[in-house]
Amino acid sequence: MSETQNDVSDWWQTEIIDMAPGQIRIRGHPIGDLIGNVTFPQMIWLMTRGDVPSKAQAELLESALVAAVDHGPQAPSIAASRMAVTCGLGLNGALASAVNMLDDIHGGAGEQAVELYSWIDNAAQTGQALEAATGEMIDRWQAERTKFIPGFGHRFHKPVDPRAPRLLGLVDEAAQTGTVTGRYAEIGRAIQHVLNTRKGKPVPMNIDGATAVIYAELGFAGPLARGLFCLSRSVGIIAHAWEQMNQGGRNKGPTPPSYRWTYSGPRPIDLKGD
Ligand SMILES: CC(C)(COP(=O)(O)OP(=O)(O)OC[C@H]1O[C@@H](n2cnc3c(N)ncnc32)[C@H](O)[C@@H]1OP(=O)(O)O)[C@@H](O)C(=O)NCCC(=O)NCCS
Repeated sequence: MSETQNDVSDWWQTEIIDMAPGQIRIRGHPIGDLIGNVTFPQMIWLMTRGDVPSKAQAELLESALVAAVDHGPQAPSIAASRMAVTCGLGLNGALASAVNMLDDIHGGAGEQAVELYSWIDNAAQTGQALEAATGEMIDRWQAERTKFIPGFGHRFHKPVDPRAPRLLGLVDEAAQTGTVTGRYAEIGRAIQHVLNTRKGKPVPMNIDGATAVIYAELGFAGPLARGLFCLSRSVGIIAHAWEQMNQGGRNKGPTPPSYRWTYSGPRPIDLKGD
């Protein structure tokens, strides 16, 4: 191959996919071997991690993906999807608008949650008791980042986000069979305990915190926890966009037009006065 051809072929380098006319291989596997033989969660893992997970690992991953698909039109991502459709966007545009809402505060907190869980894990590995390490790392997070601990607290589900105990229960079962260690479920519960005790009221583990436990148990990096949440929520976003498309409705804002916001600016002044 000439130097120029190498320049061109090396412009993008990937370990993910190789293709030739009539041939597609993903992570070395011919596509025909994957189709019909691996599940979608196994495919997600293969694409993002490079290897095919065991059935038990893939099932745990799948449970996190199932849990986060939807949270109704009160969730900013779902509301954005429905509003986008009433403005004339297609499913692709609605999906793009809605996924952009998933950041640190809504749906994206799993990324930081995985980071905090590993801070606590590292601190506890120095011999400190888990509860003490948790308290110290919560203090550090609040001093260095924000007072809000990622993956905890909920506007709506108080005192318990029903998805969290179910997901942690599945982690416990997976720990019993040796699929995961159960360490991050332990850390998640320790955070929950410290926050509840400090606030004197429930600050429940939310869906980002619970799915982050699973992603951390399975060894996903923090940024992938956010990516996988987006993937999961995309299902709900598309379903709501499609339903709204079929219902019709044009140019719907966040509230019915008869409701208005609270105006807190200056009163009108007479610009003609002296
Ligand atoms: C989701 C969130 C915005 C809800 O906040 P909220 O509506 O203020 O929650 P609450 O009204 O139940 O808060 C109760 C108290 O707990 C505190 N609290 C709530 N979430 C907290 C958190 N994650 N860490 C520490 N304290 C928290 C509040 O500041 C409040 O304290 P106060 O009574 O002294 O004012 C907030 O919990 C948050 O930002 N969490 C972290 C990001 C996250 O996980 N997002 C995913 C949401 S599904």
